[in-house]
Amino acid sequence: MSGRTFYIETFGCQMNAHDSEKVVGTLVAQGYTQVETPEEAHLVLYNTCSIRDKAEQKVFNRLQQFKRDAGKGKVFGVLGCVAQQEGEKIFARAPHVSLVAGSASYTKLPQMLVQLEAGNRRVTGLSLETDETFDTPLTRRDNPHRAYITIIEGCDKSCAYCVVPFTRGPERSRAGESVLAEARRLAEQGYTEIQLLGQNVNSYRDPSAAGWDFATLLGRVAQVAGIRRVRYTTSHPRDFVKAIVDVMDENSVLCDHVHLPVQSGSTRLLAAMDRQYTRDEYRRRIEWIKTAKRKYSITTDIIVGFPGETDADFQHTLDLLDEVQYDSLFSFKYSARPHTAALAMPDAIPEEEKQRRLAIVQEKQRAIQIRRNADRIGTLQEVLVEGRNQALGQWIGRTSDNRPLNFTHRDEGGASLLGQYLPVRVTRSGPNSLVGESATVE
Ligand code: SAH
Ligand code: SF4
Ligand code: F3S
Repeated sequence: MSGRTFYIETFGCQMNAHDSEKVVGTLVAQGYTQVETPEEAHLVLYNTCSIRDKAEQKVFNRLQQFKRDAGKGKVFGVLGCVAQQEGEKIFARAPHVSLVAGSASYTKLPQMLVQLEAGNRRVTGLSLETDETFDTPLTRRDNPHRAYITIIEGCDKSCAYCVVPFTRGPERSRAGESVLAEARRLAEQGYTEIQLLGQNVNSYRDPSAAGWDFATLLGRVAQVAGIRRVRYTTSHPRDFVKAIVDVMDENSVLCDHVHLPVQSGSTRLLAAMDRQYTRDEYRRRIEWIKTAKRKYSITTDIIVGFPGETDADFQHTLDLLDEVQYDSLFSFKYSARPHTAALAMPDAIPEEEKQRRLAIVQEKQRAIQIRRNADRIGTLQEVLVEGRNQALGQWIGRTSDNRPLNFTHRDEGGASLLGQYLPVRVTRSGPNSLVGESATVE
C-alpha cells in the first residue's frame, strides 16, 4: 500500500459517473495512482448518491466494512450527494472518514488533498455558494467512444420529493463556447458520441454574451466535425420547448431519443409534487415528439406511492403509459428524503402498497416493450459497437434510439469492431433488447 494510491467507487447517476472521471483526472495530475481495489489503496473514495434512502445506505455499508482498516493508515473520503447532504455528521457516524466534500467543491480538491497529506483528519468541502461549474481538461474518461460533457450543474426546481437541489446546489450553466471547445477536443481524440449532462438540461442558459438556450447549444454541438451521435439527459417537461424537437429534426446527429420524466399521470399529484406542469401540458410535449419529422423513442421516470396517491391518481399514471407507449421507463417507489417538502405531507402510502403499484407499472410496461421491440424485427438499424459478449459470440451495440442491439458478425475471424458504426438487421426481440445480424449495405 503506497501513500499515493487511491480507489474510487461511484454510485448514482451519470452526473456522478462523470464527476468521478474529473476527480480521477485531478488526482492523477496530483501524482496519485488509481488502483482497482480498496485493499490496495491508501486513499479510499466513495462518490455517493442520495436520491433514495437505499442509495444513501450503500455508502454507510461500505464504510462499515472497512472500519477495521481505519487504524492501518487508510484515508477515507465521502464525496457527492450524501456528503453534501450529511456534511460533518458523517464524521460522527463514521469517525474513520477524513474527507467530506460535495460536488460544488471539487475545484478545491487539490487543496483538500494537501490538507489530507498534512495529516488533517477533518477536511471538508461543503459550500454551495459557487457560480462555477467544475470543468477540467484533466478528466479521465472511462469509455473510449462516448464522452460525457456537463453543461449545467445543480437544480433550481423544488420537486417535493427530491433531494437534488440540496445536494447539488443552485443551477450553474457552463459557457457555450467552452462546451463546444470540449466537444471539438473530444472529436479530435476520436470520441464519436457525446452525452450532454445536467439535472435539467432544458434550463441551460449560456452565461456568456451569446446567451444560447439549450436548443441552440444542441444545434451547435451537432455540427462539431467527427461527432456522430449526441444524446442529452435529463429533460424537465416544464422547460422542454418545441424548439428542441425542431433542432433534433434538423440534425440526424442528435439521437432519436427523448427521455422526458413525467413522475405521475395525475394532474392533482403533479401539483402536489410541484412539478409545474399538468398531465395535458405533458401530453402536448409528447405530441410534438410524436408528430415530428423523425421517429423518436420516448422514455420516462415514474414514482409510485407519493404521499396521498389515490387509486384514481395511480390509474391516471397507468392510462398515460397506455397512451404514450413508452419505449422504456425507470420506476421507483417514493422514498422520503431529508429537507424535502414531501416529508411534511400526510397520507403516506404503506410499503406493501407501493410495492404492489410498482409491480403493476413494471408488468404493464414490460408488455408494452415486448410489443414495441417486436415491431423492430426485420428493420435495419445503425449501431455503435460498445462491447463484446464472448459467451454468446455476440457484439453489443446500441441504436440511435437507445436500444441495446446485440448481434453476430459473419467475419468472426476479423478484428475488433469496438467503436465502429455498423448496419444491423434485427432478427429477434425481447422486453429489454434486440438481437440481430450485421448487414452489408450495397
Ligand atoms: N432531474 C431529473 C431527475 C433526476 S433523479 C428530473 O427532474 O427528471 C432521477 C429520478 O429519480 C427522478 O426522475 C425520479 O423519478 C426519481 N426520484 C427522485 N427522487 C425520488 C424519491 N425521493 N423517491 C423515489 N424516486 C425519486
Ligand atoms: Fe429533482 Fe425536480 Fe430538480 Fe429533477 S427537476 S433534480 S426531480 S428537483
Ligand atoms: Fe444521486 Fe446525486 Fe445523481 S442524488 S441521482 S448522484 S445528482
